[in-house]
Amino acid sequence: MEQVPADAMIVPVFEGTQESRFGAGELVKSGEIAGKSLELTLVHHPQGVAASRVLFTGGGKPDKFTAAEQRRMTAAAVRLLKGKSIKRVAMVLDPSFAGPEFAQAAVEGALLGDFDPDTYKTDEKKSIDSFAIVTDASPAMEQAIRSGTIIGEAQNFTRSLVNEPANRLTPSDVAAAAQRTAETYGLECEILDRDKMAKLGMGALLGVAQGSAEPPALVVLRYQPASPKSGVHLGLVGKGVTFDTGGISIKPAEGMEKMKYDMAGGAAMIGAMRAIAQLKPAIRVTAFIPCVENMPGSRAQRPGDIVASMAGKSIEVINTDAEGRLILADSLTYARSQGCTHLVDAATLTGAIVVALGHLHVGLFSNDDAMRDRLLKASRAEGERMWPMPLDDDYKDYLKSAFADLANVGGRWGGAITAAYFLKEFAQDTPWVHLDIAGTAWLDDCKPYSAKGPTGLPVRTLVRLALDWE
Ligand code: BES
Ligand code: ZN
Ligand code: ZN
Repeated sequence: MEQVPADAMIVPVFEGTQESRFGAGELVKSGEIAGKSLELTLVHHPQGVAASRVLFTGGGKPDKFTAAEQRRMTAAAVRLLKGKSIKRVAMVLDPSFAGPEFAQAAVEGALLGDFDPDTYKTDEKKSIDSFAIVTDASPAMEQAIRSGTIIGEAQNFTRSLVNEPANRLTPSDVAAAAQRTAETYGLECEILDRDKMAKLGMGALLGVAQGSAEPPALVVLRYQPASPKSGVHLGLVGKGVTFDTGGISIKPAEGMEKMKYDMAGGAAMIGAMRAIAQLKPAIRVTAFIPCVENMPGSRAQRPGDIVASMAGKSIEVINTDAEGRLILADSLTYARSQGCTHLVDAATLTGAIVVALGHLHVGLFSNDDAMRDRLLKASRAEGERMWPMPLDDDYKDYLKSAFADLANVGGRWGGAITAAYFLKEFAQDTPWVHLDIAGTAWLDDCKPYSAKGPTGLPVRTLVRLALDWE
């Protein structure tokens, strides 16, 4: 393995171990390499290695090392190397962590680390050309590398969509992107336009859309397994607000430019479906992505307006900036009417979830313990951290309206919970999980293992959920 041709070879080193291969001996002995998590040491012309450089990459304590760590470590290494215009990268796996799940995580990490939201930068873009894993070939390894490639690319696809500004990605453009994805990977795609939505009685969704000159679209992407194992039909519902000004309840100017990422939930569903189409889980999966632009204007809905949802419940729109729950309400109802037996939604729904959990955990809400546990299990395996939040029945009191069945906001306290409770009213008795990704779909500062900007959460969790369903 010392003779693999590459411009740089990534070599993991762990705390407390005495790595001496690849010319590490002196550096480890002198303490210059300690193996701490994400520690990076680049060495030129290492002895006995064909690659002209070795990048020793710290993995932390070996008893704490997981596939998630492997992913981050590889991403950090690739980011350092690509910054130095290095093109051909190879990686060795530590003998203790050389199973297929580590190879898959390394491939994902390499792809994720190589990503930069530089679509509109005109100066030279840096990117690696190839990434190889040094391992004995086996069918399990090949499958792992294939899966890692599919999932890493799907997540980056989601990140590129999220990065698109609102002038270049309207609701119709999201629909076109979904359609192209469906054609390339063999999914069924249907786009419901304003008329169709009006016929279905989607007054909550259309109320949000009416303020914008851009027409709304409800994107439906369908995956059907060749021989379904069960009657399970998973529905993935993603918020697709291509820009959220707040509407008449307009947002302050500072930071408003970030509201192009208010379609991150929808983009995650398209990315997940792209991977699902290729990895072919045994259950049926359908994604529903309501796409709108939330704008003020003479046609916009006003605070105090009362809209009729598809489910039959009337809603008083107290605040036009609480638009995500309105479009999701009708989409959840539609997903149920399409026969979905289980539902997961992902939405940049509330600033309150950022107050509660910061930028590290997705807020997870559910009406069903088994469904919640499925999501938590998948998220843990993928290193996409999620934290369960409460959803007791008495939160309903917060959403009382004097004039309609429900108000669209619940007041100052527990904002992420009352938003989730609003959705629960529309999920009804279908096992459902709501993921509030407002704090986690966008990274405000870059990390050694990730560019600033769109993260692509929770694509990996959703793909695993579908693949591991039993
Ligand atoms: N898209 C926002 C939520 C958001 C906030 C996402 C910050 C990402 C970062 C959502 O539509 C919204 O405006 N929510 C309001 C709800 C309020 C009016 C009850 C909020 O969180 O302030
Ligand atoms: Zn809003
Ligand atoms: Zn929003």
